[in-house]
Amino acid sequence: MRMLGAKTLLIVLFLQALLVSMVTEAASANKVKRVKPPKPVKPVQEILTCKSRKSRCFMKRIKCPVECPKVKPKNPKDKACFLDCYSPKCEAVCKSRKPNCNGPGAACYDPRFIGGDGIVFYFHGKRNEHFSLISDSDLQINARFIGLRPEGRTRDYTWIQALGFKFGHHNFTLEAARTQKWDDDVDHIKLSYDGKELFIPEGHSSEWNSPEGDIQVERTATSNSLTVKVLDVAEISVNVIPVSEEDSKIHNYQIPTNDSFAHLEVQFRFFGLSSKVEGILGRTYRPDFENPAKPGVAMPVVGGDDKYKTSSLLAADCALCVFSPKEIKDGNDDSPMMEYGMLDCTGGGNGIICKK
Ligand SMILES: *[C@@H]1O[C@H](CO)[C@@H](O)[C@H](O)[C@H]1NC(C)=O
Ligand SMILES: *[C@@H]1O[C@H](CO)[C@@H](O)[C@H](O)[C@H]1NC(C)=O
Repeated sequence: MRMLGAKTLLIVLFLQALLVSMVTEAASANKVKRVKPPKPVKPVQEILTCKSRKSRCFMKRIKCPVECPKVKPKNPKDKACFLDCYSPKCEAVCKSRKPNCNGPGAACYDPRFIGGDGIVFYFHGKRNEHFSLISDSDLQINARFIGLRPEGRTRDYTWIQALGFKFGHHNFTLEAARTQKWDDDVDHIKLSYDGKELFIPEGHSSEWNSPEGDIQVERTATSNSLTVKVLDVAEISVNVIPVSEEDSKIHNYQIPTNDSFAHLEVQFRFFGLSSKVEGILGRTYRPDFENPAKPGVAMPVVGGDDKYKTSSLLAADCALCVFSPKEIKDGNDDSPMMEYGMLDCTGGGNGIICKK
C-alpha cells in the first residue's frame, strides 16, 4: 500500500510539472516578438593577468580599457593595452607602441637619456665602443655606440647603433644595419638569438618567440619598428632611424654622404629591477640614486666611461657590472621595486617635467 501511494504521488507530481511547463510555454508564445536592433559592435576588451608572484596583481583578471581593448591592435597607429604587473595600481592602461623619446627610460638622439627618476641627461661615451645601459643580477643590456668627430671638436658625437641583451644564459642582439643611403621602405633591423641570425618576416604584428618563451619580438610597423619583451623583466620599444639632414645641419655633425648613421631610438620599461641595478640608465632606477645631472642645466652630461665600458656587445665585464645569472635566488630578495614607470612626462628638449 505504501509503495503504491509513493508511486501515485510521483506520477501526480510529474503530471503537474508537465502542466506547469506547458502553461509557461503557451504564455511565452503569446508575447509579441520584438525585432532587436542590431547591437553596436563593441570591441572585446582583453583580460590580462600577472603570473609573477612578486606582482601585486598576481593572478587577478584585469580588463583592458575600452579606448584600447587589445594588446596587439591591428592598426599600427592604435594604442595598445598594457598592464604593468609591478605598478601598485594594478590596472591596465593605454600606451603607444612606439618609443616615446620624452618618456622615462628613453634613449634617443645623440644619446639623450631620461632616467627612471625622470631626469634628462647626456652620456656621450666613445664611438665604436660598448657601454652597459643596464646591469642587474638577471639582466644585462649593453649598447654599441657609433659616431664621428667633426673637425675641431673635442669629443665624439655618438648614437646607439646596437643593443645586446643577456638574460639567464641567453643572448639577444638588435642592430641598426649600416646603410649608405637611407630608405624608409627598406628594413634596417638585424637580430640574433644565441649567436644565430634571426629573421622575422616584415609586416605589422609579425612576431617571434624564443623556444623557452623567455623573449618575444614583435614588429610594430611593417619595417624598422619593434617591441622586445623579456619575460617578467623588461619591455623595449625601438625604432631604427637615420641621422636626419635637419639634425645634421643644426648640430653641424658633418655626416658623410656615404653613411646614413642608422641608429636606434629606444624606450625601456622595466618590471621589478633590483635596488642594486647598475648601468648608465639602470642606476637611475635605484631608490638611493642621486643624479649627478642637476635639473635646470642646459645639457647635463654625465660621465662614467670607465665604470660602464664593456669589452663587447655581449660582455658583462664593466667595472660596476653586477650581472650574475648563476646566482640562485633565495626568494627573500625583497629589494624595493621602483615605480617610476608611472611617471608622466611632458615637454621637450631640456624642458621635460615628470610627475608621478
Ligand atoms: C653569449 O655571448 C657570450 C659572449 O659573446 C658567449 O660567451 C656565450 O657563449 C653566448 N651564449 C650563447 C648561449 O650563445
Ligand atoms: C665612407 O667613406 C669613407 C672615406 O672615404 C670610408 O672610410 C668609409 O668606410 C665609407 N663608409 C661607407 C659606409 O662606405
